[in-house]
Amino acid sequence: MNSRIPGFGRLDPDRRRLVIEERLGLEAGALAAYADVRPADMSLLGLRSECVIGSLILPLSVAPNFRVDDEDTLVPMVTEEPSVVAAASRGGLLLREGVGIQTLVPPRRIAGQVQLSEVPADDREAAIRAIEACCEEFSLAARNAHQAWAGGGGDLTGIKVYEVESDLVVLLTIDPGKSMGANLVTDICERLALRLEELSGGLAGLRIVTNACEGPPVLATGMVEVRRLHKDRARADAIARGVEAASSLAQSDTRRAVTHNKGIFNGIDAVLMACGQDFRAVEAAGHAFAASSGRYGPLAVWRLEGEVLTGRLEIPMAVGTVGGAVEGRDAVRLAFRVLGIESSRDPVRLAAVTAACGLAQNLAALTSLAGDGLLKGHMQLHARNMALDAGATPAEVDALTLILRDEGGGVDRARVSSALASIRSGNRRRDGQEV
Ligand code: MEV
Repeated sequence: MNSRIPGFGRLDPDRRRLVIEERLGLEAGALAAYADVRPADMSLLGLRSECVIGSLILPLSVAPNFRVDDEDTLVPMVTEEPSVVAAASRGGLLLREGVGIQTLVPPRRIAGQVQLSEVPADDREAAIRAIEACCEEFSLAARNAHQAWAGGGGDLTGIKVYEVESDLVVLLTIDPGKSMGANLVTDICERLALRLEELSGGLAGLRIVTNACEGPPVLATGMVEVRRLHKDRARADAIARGVEAASSLAQSDTRRAVTHNKGIFNGIDAVLMACGQDFRAVEAAGHAFAASSGRYGPLAVWRLEGEVLTGRLEIPMAVGTVGGAVEGRDAVRLAFRVLGIESSRDPVRLAAVTAACGLAQNLAALTSLAGDGLLKGHMQLHARNMALDAGATPAEVDALTLILRDEGGGVDRARVSSALASIRSGNRRRDGQEV
């Protein structure tokens, strides 16, 4: 197969699918399922990315039960992983009592870097001083750029020059207003590059946002009374101790910290996806923050204090409610309405609820791990996907999950196939009962 396809980007999605079918030796129409959207939507999709051949449908869910900063909220989530939304809802429920989840969203900041090479070694100190002295001039340029990008607001909040090997790096920090700010700060870096060359006598190299977190992260805290973790008090105590032990293990063991944080991002990414955010940027910043002590650690920690389990999550959260892929997308506007941030278009609330969801997700994962283990609940939900993969209809999926639940035990492909066969052979009714 030759992957060189000149002019592929200029074709329309229908034509591209034909070309790919041909190249791969597939039968005509093999990729048609990708195009199962309205023609108008296909044109839009074609404009949103490049070389589009169709769309991939992911489930959009809403997690109930959340109370964040004294306000109830429903949380839109997009994820393909079964049990993520159920877990978030369960975590939200456990944490909603008392004060609910509380957050602290510090003033939002984003920074960009301009790399200056070949600055004459003797003039470095003078160059640093000259650049730092131009703060006001750069502020004006930043404000102009902001007007072009996001309609006013925002300003340069810091300028720092530091040495990296033989280069200077200029770090420009801005208040992004209500946008996430990556394009804005990159624009500012590009606009200022020539002037920085002039001031330093060097050559501008990279001019680009840094996705690292500038300033403090978002903080989400929550607590749950131990007795609420299980109806059997002894088991509730054991689960609470298990959650604390899991948190400690994540603090001492990088392997566990990675999985612990992966679970947190199960929730965070799902909210960010639903809200049209750049979840890769939040992930990159989150993992860098998790390693900021010099050793990769957990983003959320849990402590057992008497009758109460207390959790604390810290995470950088570069989100925006204007600009980028956010405005003009109906699905994102709807997600904001579900979140109740339509009128204020408020990235602070979005950051708060997203972090809260990460904390709830982590609590749900750790209580499962400390209780019955993950697979029991997860595999019941996963059974639905396995049933669909095995070709079950929606009615058969329901019957199949009932059978598997009633029979208990682990769920695997063989059991799914045999349960499906027994429904189809008439040995089981569609409500899962034996005939
Ligand atoms: C699964 O997607 C995520 C978990 O493994 C997270 C964790 O172990 O904390 C359940």
